[in-house]
Amino acid sequence: MKKNQPIVIIDSGIGGINIAKQLSMKLENEHIIAISDNLYMPYGLLTRREIIRRINYLLKTIRTLEPKAIVIGCNTIDAVCGEKLVSEFPGISVFRVIKESAKVAAKTTKNNNIAVFATPATTDSQIYMQMLALYKNNLNVYGICCDELASLIEAEDFKNKMIDEEVKLATDLDCDTLILGCTHYNLIINKFAKFYPNTAIIDSADQLCNLVCEKIPILNAKLQYQLTNPQFEVYLTKVDDQVETHIEKILGNIDYTIKEI
Ligand code: DGL
Repeated sequence: MKKNQPIVIIDSGIGGINIAKQLSMKLENEHIIAISDNLYMPYGLLTRREIIRRINYLLKTIRTLEPKAIVIGCNTIDAVCGEKLVSEFPGISVFRVIKESAKVAAKTTKNNNIAVFATPATTDSQIYMQMLALYKNNLNVYGICCDELASLIEAEDFKNKMIDEEVKLATDLDCDTLILGCTHYNLIINKFAKFYPNTAIIDSADQLCNLVCEKIPILNAKLQYQLTNPQFEVYLTKVDDQVETHIEKILGNIDYTIKEI
């Protein structure tokens, strides 16, 4: 038997912490570390070069953790640095969020019209269009660029009228399938359900969790990990009262520690 190694989830903010929570509830005996670069959030408004620079910074920490798996809990990181992360960690499982969501959405749509809600950086990359095209021909993919949503969710500004304005951006399109192409949007999925009652909502955070929960037990069995020391750690690039309170609300009665990196 081999000593267990952590599963590291990365995001710019609470989207990844929310994913880490779901994973810890389903993969009970794991050592889970959520890394959030909240000092530089929102990534969606950074340039590609700035996002790459931030990921290079985080790579140093990720390497010291010697993870058995890396979960890219952020569509924007996946869009810009997904390939890079895979090549930086040969032999380690790197779970990517976009391909999985695209696969499920392509299977789900009947009228072939899909709206993808995402950050500006993800929308500009056109990665969802490329990934969806791998699974189905003749799709009409509408990239819905949301400038504000992720930041408003991060700040818990749920009453801000910009939330509804951005969520409603696809109501005039005849899409039978929506992709929530930013992991923060999981925290306002009810809003999407309200404005799109007859539409299939493919939540990238959920799809990623399902994939990781299916694959980790297989990895554990293959590498014979001994699951003896479950832990939940949150690494932030900025710790303050506001973020600590927000994390406490998300994680509820899970035992966790916070560290600034
Ligand atoms: N949660 C991230 C995503 O899935 C992005 C939020 C941000 O703009 O930082 O794209």
